Amino acid sequence: MYELRDTLQGAAEAILKKKFGSSTTVHFQVTFEDGHGDLTTSVALQLAKKVGSSPRDIAELLREGLKSVKGIEKVEVAGAGFVNVTLGTDAIIAGLKTARKACVPMKKRGSKPIVVDYSAPNIAKPLGIHHILSTVIGQSIVNLYSHQGYETVSINHIGDWGTQFGKLAVAYEKWGTKPIAEYSIDELLVLYVRFHDELEKDESLESLGRSAFSKLEKGDATLRLFWKSVVDITMRSMDDLYRRLSVRFDRTMGESFYEKLMDPIIEEGKKKGVFVAGNEGALIVNFEEALKMSPAIAVKGDGSTIYLTRDLATMRYRIDEWHPEAILYVVDIAQQLYFRQLFETVRLLGWDLPHLEHVIFGRMRFADKSMSTRKGNILKLEEVLDEAVKRADAIIKERGERIQTDDPKDLAEMMGVGAVVYGVLSQNRKMDMVFDWDKMLSFEGNSAPYLQYTHARARSVLRKAGSEGADAQVKDLTAKERHLLKLVFLFGETVEAARREHLPHTLANYLYELCQAFNSFYASDEILSATGAIRDFRLHLTACTADILKTGASILTLRVPERM
Ligand code: ARG
Repeated sequence: MYELRDTLQGAAEAILKKKFGSSTTVHFQVTFEDGHGDLTTSVALQLAKKVGSSPRDIAELLREGLKSVKGIEKVEVAGAGFVNVTLGTDAIIAGLKTARKACVPMKKRGSKPIVVDYSAPNIAKPLGIHHILSTVIGQSIVNLYSHQGYETVSINHIGDWGTQFGKLAVAYEKWGTKPIAEYSIDELLVLYVRFHDELEKDESLESLGRSAFSKLEKGDATLRLFWKSVVDITMRSMDDLYRRLSVRFDRTMGESFYEKLMDPIIEEGKKKGVFVAGNEGALIVNFEEALKMSPAIAVKGDGSTIYLTRDLATMRYRIDEWHPEAILYVVDIAQQLYFRQLFETVRLLGWDLPHLEHVIFGRMRFADKSMSTRKGNILKLEEVLDEAVKRADAIIKERGERIQTDDPKDLAEMMGVGAVVYGVLSQNRKMDMVFDWDKMLSFEGNSAPYLQYTHARARSVLRKAGSEGADAQVKDLTAKERHLLKLVFLFGETVEAARREHLPHTLANYLYELCQAFNSFYASDEILSATGAIRDFRLHLTACTADILKTGASILTLRVPERM
């Protein structure tokens, strides 16, 4: 099917060139609508005006020229000037082989790496539910790149430096009750929250916090030890969550790592006239009027560095260390202005830059009101995952006999965590996202359990058959087989497009369609009781579908069960 599409495109381009002189790119799209064939192009409509001919005439010309291409059953002109091609059975079946190859990660390209900065929580607080966004969007983007043979460097740029540390140190000094190393992450949060509560009554706490951080930056030994303990406690509390989410970083490098690397950049910025004096001794960056951006602070009046200073040093380090092709920052849309300022600042500094991109995502909204109205405390990611697993467990019990598993505990974990993750990844990251328990855990809808169930169903057929079928030639295809085959064919392209656009939801939605197509094939076409070539072929199609579901799911950080 791939080869044939290329042939068709090439042939159509040659026909148009011969007739109209200039070159046109022709793209044939796979179509699923009844009576529209398998591949369609609207090139005649696009070209008509340019060449001063009617779309239908151009379409007719293409029809005449393409109908003799080998492997094609028929070519029709439809509507205002679409050219619809129906492929021969053999050509469609040939697509299976290539599709299955797309399940294997591509060979390394030997190109420059893609650096992906994601998750990046701030220290001394447990991960909240909103952290799941950057975390799983970032990881799935890394997985998309690696699957396509790109070198990747995945980095957790944790916020372990800055004034909030000074605040925590003050809180601990005032209200701490035991050695810091004995604190849990939740107890650290209590300290932090208390600081902010007391701050409302006593404003002097603010400057105490600031000066504590300044002391820490200058190397105060006691504060350093305190800081180190807090970092360790936080990291330990996150490890288990990252493991549950199948998230893996090549490097965990906090903002503190760049401490020593900021001075040279401050010097460079001053020398190049990019950092100039602002109010009260601060150094600021002014931007061109046309950019309509407020000035950014590079160094504060008291000489302490800030988020931007550290991001400048971080970028310098990444460029020098990995010579990347791109650096992707998977960060909340709330930081959009900030990243524009950062990218513009490095441009003003005249650095030789890789492709820089702020991969934004929207906010999370809750269908269940009680989740968003919780005051004071953050909604912890761990609690949400545990709740999801509990709900999955209840569903497994309730479905009783209809669910088969050797390990109900692991299945509940896989379903529950998967449901939350898929709930995020199946929505367009650029929009606000809705967190909806019922939708996420449904067995019928666009959800992780549905995907997992469909995979298990396909594997179960193959187990019962004791075979993965064979590359058998059948004479005719049923409508369901044809539909499923065409979707299978699109897997490689879907992964490629999801990677290129950094949009994991397009892969999720494709997998959902594939599940639907497989389930309707399964419901109408006999597999196990078929015989000969038909049985072999259907088993093969089933195996290929299972492969794609598993590979696609794992790119989205999900696990799928063998039985369910
Ligand atoms: N820790 C930051 C925050 O929670 C996100 C860091 C994103 N990465 C970066 N290089 N700025 O807002």
